[in-house]
Amino acid sequence: MKAAAILPSLALLGLLLLGAPPAGAQAPAPAMTPAEAYQRGCAECHRRESSVLRAIPSRPEAERRAWIERFMARHPCACDEARPLILDYLLERTRR
Ligand code: HEC
Repeated sequence: MKAAAILPSLALLGLLLLGAPPAGAQAPAPAMTPAEAYQRGCAECHRRESSVLRAIPSRPEAERRAWIERFMARHPCACDEARPLILDYLLERTRR
């Protein structure tokens, strides 16, 4: 029967839906790499990080850090707990 074939996949879908939020929402910050932090906080709007990196002025590290901090303070971030790691990530990726 059709229903018999569909039921197991519905059960699986239910598991995925129930299982996903705890796994994604409350992962402890240290378990993230800086790259994953960027994925969580910025990538939903900036899938191509190159334009983000280009916007960061090429200055000494301390000035880039200040620029990124100021920028992020008034810019959306999809994952607040990832902010410090995103800062590290962007600093690393703009090291020249
Ligand atoms: C909710 C969507 C959204 C999220 C999340 C987001 N941004 Fe943006 N960002 C935008 C939009 C839209 C623009 C372009 C319009 C503007 O300049 O305000 C932009 C522009 C920028 C720019 C200027 C350069 C450019 O491409 O125009 C930088 C740098 C930037 N974002 C960095 C970040 C970083 C870093 C994060 C993660 C912490 C982030 N953004 C998260 C929507 C987002």
